[in-house]
Amino acid sequence: MEFENLSVLLLHYYPEYLKQCCDLINEEWPRSETARMMSLQASCDALPTSFIIVDDKKLVIGHCKLTPIPSIPESCFVETVVIKKNLRGKRLGSYLMRYIEDYCKNVLHLKMIHLSTKGQEDFYAKLGYTVCKPVSIYGTYVPNNFIPESHSHKTDNSVPQENTPSTGAPPPPPPPMPKTGLNSNINSNIKSNKTFMYKDLIW
Ligand SMILES: CC(C)(COP(=O)(O)OP(=O)(O)OC[C@H]1O[C@@H](n2cnc3c(N)ncnc32)[C@H](O)[C@@H]1OP(=O)(O)O)[C@@H](O)C(=O)NCCC(=O)NCCS
Repeated sequence: MEFENLSVLLLHYYPEYLKQCCDLINEEWPRSETARMMSLQASCDALPTSFIIVDDKKLVIGHCKLTPIPSIPESCFVETVVIKKNLRGKRLGSYLMRYIEDYCKNVLHLKMIHLSTKGQEDFYAKLGYTVCKPVSIYGTYVPNNFIPESHSHKTDNSVPQENTPSTGAPPPPPPPMPKTGLNSNINSNIKSNKTFMYKDLIW
């Protein structure tokens, strides 16, 4: 593959590639075009940011998206990594991942990248990603000990003294959370059978 004939572009500066990008992703993970386009149109300089690989014939042949991880501001989450089917195995996926790693480090000044996968663990392992505990890309929920030990922060999870009742019976437990769509999304992310991986950008 001649990498010099390829460009990696931030999708929001090239809306003419939106439809092609939508089709590329939907070939792999079918979804309504409206929903997919809305998600792609959210791309911006601040996260989420969609990157595309475009060849010299103006064909979109790769995509990936960076989204924030609210509970780990020094990292971001890579998702929807996809290379056009007939061009896989030619190092385009590695090329795109290396590009966004440089971008995360040098433009966004991040220290880590996280992702989750089911089936592509070897591809990411070859790029230096290692398995870690699940992270949530929703809200500010922080699962216990989710950061690798070398990056653990000292956090004080204890209840502030002034909010702790000093006498009397303990309060009753809260009722179970209603099973809304949002809650089930959060739980399925954290408890999913996907493999979570991360990479240090300090090299
Ligand atoms: C996963 C994907 C992005 C990889 O892109 P690619 O351009 O085909 O990968 P590369 O050519 O850069 O591969 C780099 C190395 O990883 C290996 N590799 C790639 N995909 C692999 C896989 N699924 N399992 C094991 N190894 C894999 C390659 O053999 C190569 O190994 P080598 O260095 O020993 O030769 C691409 O296959 C794809 O779009 N898959 C479908 C969508 C998908 O599953 N995305 C990931 C979502 S988490």
